[in-house]
Amino acid sequence: MEISFYDFQNLHNEKFRKEVKDIIGEIIDNNAFAEGEYNHKFEKDFAKMQGANHCALVGNGTDAIEISLEVLGVGHGDKVGVPGITFYATIEAVLNRGATPVYIDINPEDGLLCPKSLERMAEAHNLKAVIPVHIYGLPAPIKEIEDVCNPRGIKIIEDSAQAQGTFLPTGPVGSSNNLSTFSFYPTKNLAAFGDAGAVLVPTEELYNKIKTIGNHGRGDDSMYGRNSRCDHIQAAVLYKKLEMIEEYNKARKSAAALYHKHLEGASVKVLPSKYLTTSSWHLYPVQCESSQARESLAKLLADNGVSTTPFYAEALSEMTPFKGYEGEDEKAKAFAGHTLCLPISAFTTEEQIEYICNIIKKA
Ligand SMILES: Cc1ncc(COP(=O)(O)O)c(C=O)c1O
Repeated sequence: MEISFYDFQNLHNEKFRKEVKDIIGEIIDNNAFAEGEYNHKFEKDFAKMQGANHCALVGNGTDAIEISLEVLGVGHGDKVGVPGITFYATIEAVLNRGATPVYIDINPEDGLLCPKSLERMAEAHNLKAVIPVHIYGLPAPIKEIEDVCNPRGIKIIEDSAQAQGTFLPTGPVGSSNNLSTFSFYPTKNLAAFGDAGAVLVPTEELYNKIKTIGNHGRGDDSMYGRNSRCDHIQAAVLYKKLEMIEEYNKARKSAAALYHKHLEGASVKVLPSKYLTTSSWHLYPVQCESSQARESLAKLLADNGVSTTPFYAEALSEMTPFKGYEGEDEKAKAFAGHTLCLPISAFTTEEQIEYICNIIKKA
């Protein structure tokens, strides 16, 4: 059996292709390329779906973080907490603002930012902001993070790039009072046909600032910005995908539950079952006993037609461009070395999951 890591074939079926082709034709007919009615429709409906007051579409998920830092006044010389493990866009955004990252360690059972480590780092460093990441789609402990940050005036930006479909105890990701940033990169749960991103914000003032920065400062003579627009075709694709997204995210949750069931008794460790209903299951990571065990398992699965990825093979501090920053990340280093992600999508079948789990159990 051949099982690819992403399933674009089923996602972009004939019906969807036809609808998108019609919309693209409409956009060409109207010469409305840079921005148009689908941007506004998507912003309105996505904000509603995520329980946010406003959604500001931008060019991609990295810009979404960078512009969020900018509107919160975080820049040169400021210290920003980042989890020891995340996709490197999180730390890139901090560095691109001229700010200095401080590593915060993670919880070894799930890879999410550890509020106790955050508290220690908040005491030791004058943090201006922190960027908890809903990594793999798991809900970060936002309430505990707020308990550390709010009394100290530390700003919070939730990196929700992997968390469309994730639920916090208080509601969907994006419904808190923090800024919440999304990526709609083609592999994400909700994905464009290229690059796109968004920031969910609680106030109209922040919405306007983000849109102004992302469109060269137009509308505000006192400032300049940059180009971080989401083009009309991407907005239209995203808008069309909203119709199906809740169903697709439910299917991912069912696939994760099946993996948990079929991996009982296997030598790999799965994530805590409490996340079965709250994670977006953007990724399905398992923990191997060692990095060698991970490599052999990945090879065995590849030999049997199953593609996997070692997200994230290293903690940020172990990667050349991000070495030497202060903070703590011992648990992050151990976690990164042992993680392997198995294929998961809205279309993963029980037969495929059983096939994969049987190989893992025999390993
Ligand atoms: C956790 C995280 N943050 C940020 C990003 C950046 O998003 P983009 O690639 O759209 O810039 C990603 C995308 O892969 C991500 O996974």
